[in-house]
Amino acid sequence: MAEFEPRVFSGVQPTGNLHLGNYLGALVRFVELQDRFSCIYCVVDLHAITQAVNIWGGPSELTRAIREVTAAFLASGIDPQKHIVFNQSQVAEHAELAWVFNCVARMGWLNRMTQFKEKAGKNRENASVGLFAYPNLMAADILAYRATHVPVGEDQKQHLELTRDIAQKFNIDFAESIAENGHGDAFFPLTEPLITGPATRVMSLRDGTKKMSKSDPSDYSRINLTDDADMIAQKIRKARTDPEPLPGEVDGLEHRAEAANLVGIFAALDGRTPADVLGEYGGGQFSTFKVALAELATTKLAPINDEMRRLLADPGHIDKVLNDGAQRARAIAAPVMAAVKDIVGLRPHGG
Ligand code: TYM
Repeated sequence: MAEFEPRVFSGVQPTGNLHLGNYLGALVRFVELQDRFSCIYCVVDLHAITQAVNIWGGPSELTRAIREVTAAFLASGIDPQKHIVFNQSQVAEHAELAWVFNCVARMGWLNRMTQFKEKAGKNRENASVGLFAYPNLMAADILAYRATHVPVGEDQKQHLELTRDIAQKFNIDFAESIAENGHGDAFFPLTEPLITGPATRVMSLRDGTKKMSKSDPSDYSRINLTDDADMIAQKIRKARTDPEPLPGEVDGLEHRAEAANLVGIFAALDGRTPADVLGEYGGGQFSTFKVALAELATTKLAPINDEMRRLLADPGHIDKVLNDGAQRARAIAAPVMAAVKDIVGLRPHGG
């Protein structure tokens, strides 16, 4: 198989509030990877509009949310000069490649996507075509840069498997042309998901069997990156638990979803393992643990919260970061798209 230059790509939707799940499952990992990879981090605004307008809030809310997610990237420690930060709609190659992938992916593959079923709900007939084809656009996001590694939370695993299926089918369907055009035996890499650490699936604070999510109607189910210290403490105090003390060993968290979730959050925030956290708090009451967790969460999140506010006070600066990032992203994606056109036979093209 052909060798590909290592490159990280990931995206976050500008819809609703960014929460602790997004932070621990994605942003913290994005930051860590900067030392080892060249990284591209994208605010996926075209994905946001796949749902009904009342869900993403309309034009001015979308613009605000794009800047807010960008501010969260920067405040978490992503360096937009060494790496690339931009919003998806500004690089036309995403939508262009997604069309080609609409013609590669099979209806049967997309019919199996659990996230479409969840998001479309009972009324599938009324879901947008964009929501159905959403994973093809996600594959295009990644493969427009021929990215080799994608850090995400566990909920995106199925979409990344589909990305690999699309890459593989393209490589096979066009094998001859790929070779003729000088790209060896594969044009797209089979991208690896990076789903690791104690917080790949942060659960709701109200129900340990449900994922922490932007769309949960209860604000007490999640900690938002914009929550202040009082709000964070209140939400953790009210978080659902069971009547038993914390176990001393990780095995003891089995069948105790809420306890496992809070211990996982603590571990992820403090860069420790759950076993280590239980070594300190095992045998104790939740009330004591919750006070420590609230303090830890506030200490970690307050500086991010402050920095986001500072950045959002100067939208001109955020827009400059996005425009500069889009220009650099385009420089990578344009030749890839031109090569795809050559491979597929969509000639003559502009370049
Ligand atoms: P989105 O915007 O829903 O979420 C952004 C990231 O946060 C992770 N995440 C979580 N991790 C742990 N626990 C949780 N409760 C939790 N909730 C969300 C998500 O897994 C994700 O990593 N389809 C993607 C966006 C996307 C993308 C891409 C990602 C578009 N194109 C290309 C990677 C590569 C999404 O809706 O993420």
